[in-house]
Amino acid sequence: MGSVIAGTGMHVPDNVVTNQDLARIMDTSDEWILTRTGVKERRFADPGVGSSDLAVAAAGQALDDASVEVTDVDLLITATMTPDQLAPGVAGQVQAGLGMRHVAAYDLRQQCSGFLYGLDLADAMLVSGRGETALVVGAEVHGGFQPWSDASWRAVLGEEAVQVSEADFQRNTTFRGWSVLFGDGAGAMVVQRGTKADEGILAGSLHTDGEGFDLIQVPGVGSRHRPYVSAAQLDSDAHLPVMDGGGLYRKAVRLMPEAARSVLDLAGLTLDDVDLVVAHQANDRILDGVRKQLDMGPEKVPSNIGAYGNTTAATLPILYHELRLAARVSPGTVVCFAAFGAGAHYGAVLYREPNAR
Ligand code: ACO
Repeated sequence: MGSVIAGTGMHVPDNVVTNQDLARIMDTSDEWILTRTGVKERRFADPGVGSSDLAVAAAGQALDDASVEVTDVDLLITATMTPDQLAPGVAGQVQAGLGMRHVAAYDLRQQCSGFLYGLDLADAMLVSGRGETALVVGAEVHGGFQPWSDASWRAVLGEEAVQVSEADFQRNTTFRGWSVLFGDGAGAMVVQRGTKADEGILAGSLHTDGEGFDLIQVPGVGSRHRPYVSAAQLDSDAHLPVMDGGGLYRKAVRLMPEAARSVLDLAGLTLDDVDLVVAHQANDRILDGVRKQLDMGPEKVPSNIGAYGNTTAATLPILYHELRLAARVSPGTVVCFAAFGAGAHYGAVLYREPNAR
């Protein structure tokens, strides 16, 4: 009796930042970013807007789409690697922002796999009778990680008259390897306990390769430090991400298809049964690798990274929401959700769209 996805929603900020905008503040080009990653533009939230704000907007849409009253939600799961503040996580803010009852509200820290872990957890809780309806949200505001000065921000956000200094330009170039990849956004799903054995969530296969935890990480700002954040850490940029791009690429291309095959085995299905692979939108070259491993084309392994960049925990629900709006999901459609990301957490969840709600 797998759980069914009863509604979806998404929210992205209005500020569009193109690759050409980024080329104003660092040594990069539309051609480099597009050919290496597939990203054309991304969105960034205004200062003062946090992941919880985007999450509330996306979740509200999903509830409307499902025709579910917020007071009927039994469980909230929020996935983000960019909470509004270091502690607590955003689940409480999202719960209060939506006007939910005092139901259990979990924060997940599984980064790019956060939503996938949330979907699997929601299903397990609903199947075990801990409620009828869960709300799962992935939301990120990556803008705070950008190493950009105020002038750089004003330039990327379209202020034509702003010129960034040579020092800013050099600094922004130092971090170009990862800073061009990410964008802000949120996606949400209302998940309800199913009634039939062969539809809804059919199986989940979640994994963690803990030895790969440092493939992408923020080395500073944490409990190993006294104090946990200091001027010395900020001066050495220990609060910014450090990424082994090649290492991530190799693991993502191998482990997402491996997880997809393992979840199909669990459900007694094969790759031929799959209509859509909704894979984490890290970059198009990783997606190309996944397509090759699964012997599928972009029709079956679609991408929307061109429009949003990597929105980490939000990529799966945003892409699935857009596929539903494009009428790519109909009764009987078999969807394999797959993700890989920092931690290194990865896995797959298999889903069959029910015949009738
Ligand atoms: N613009 C222009 N040049 C750049 C940029 C940029 N934004 N970034 C790096 N370069 C330069 C490098 O400095 C280097 O120059 P050099 O040859 O003079 O030293 C050159 O481009 C090649 O750099 P590489 O890092 O070797 O480029 P590569 O072809 O490996 O592509 C990339 C880098 C796109 C990051 C690739 O490794 C990748 O896709 N990795 C996956 C990483 C990822 O998706 N991370 C997201 C978070 S984790 C997740 O979601 C799974």
